[in-house]
Amino acid sequence: MLDVGSIGLTRAELELRRERYLVRGRWSKADVWVTSLRGGRRVVVKDFAHKSLIGRVWGCLQVWREARLLVLLGDMRAVPALIARLGALALVIEYVDCVPLFWCSEPERAQGCLAQLEDILEEMRRRGVIHNDLRSRENIQLAPAQGRVILLDWAGGVCLRPGSWAYRWLYPSLRVADTAACLKWKQLLRPDQISDQDRRFLRRFRVLRVLWPFNRKGLGAFAPRCAAASRGEASCSSSDQFTK
Ligand SMILES: Nc1ncnc2c1ncn2[C@@H]1O[C@H](COP(=O)(O)OP(=O)(O)O)[C@@H](O)[C@H]1O
Ligand SMILES: [Mg+2]
Repeated sequence: MLDVGSIGLTRAELELRRERYLVRGRWSKADVWVTSLRGGRRVVVKDFAHKSLIGRVWGCLQVWREARLLVLLGDMRAVPALIARLGALALVIEYVDCVPLFWCSEPERAQGCLAQLEDILEEMRRRGVIHNDLRSRENIQLAPAQGRVILLDWAGGVCLRPGSWAYRWLYPSLRVADTAACLKWKQLLRPDQISDQDRRFLRRFRVLRVLWPFNRKGLGAFAPRCAAASRGEASCSSSDQFTK
């Protein structure tokens, strides 16, 4: 993996060239901003440098985990390229001109995106990777110019070496969250294509989510859903998730 020195820019220069913030995260979440390299190539910086001490310690771990996954999946079209590490607290990532997938309102296009999403999950399975946060609405984006589905935010990802005992024993259970998220996207974009089997799977998963002790939203599975989010209406914040 490249260090920021190898792209010929220091943090100060990248900050000087900053165009805008995409997200200003709370204490445990990164600030995400857009800047450019010398040749003009746009990049995103995912940055914990200006957090409190606890935020920086947490950020260090997040940056390490995300970098690891981005390197592992670096040849996948659906994953933005990691360009460099900016010390221990930030990553420089390829900027992709994209919109949240839930803005996609044309059934034909939605169908294509869902097919891509299934292929991406299959490729992840082959590599022993789990994203773990595909329920977050803003983590799946669409680059309209290329019709390319993009998966962002890999800090929660896990990778188990295919063939290892951990893969054989843990992967099928850990993968359930990604599979359920994929079905939720199907339910949102093409509800007409949800089968009875899909519905049964989602019902079982909802029970699991309620029982799961680390569920961030507690009984959030039954909280009111983010109503404005579907089909091109106002965007929800990046932490909004499918809630049903
Ligand atoms: N490589 C990228 N290209 C374009 N936009 C991005 C990129 N990475 C992140 N973003 C934007 O920034 C938002 C937040 O980034 P993300 O990695 O999901 O961090 P978090 O959810 O922890 O704030 C995304 O929802 C997306 O809108
Ligand atoms: Mg995110």
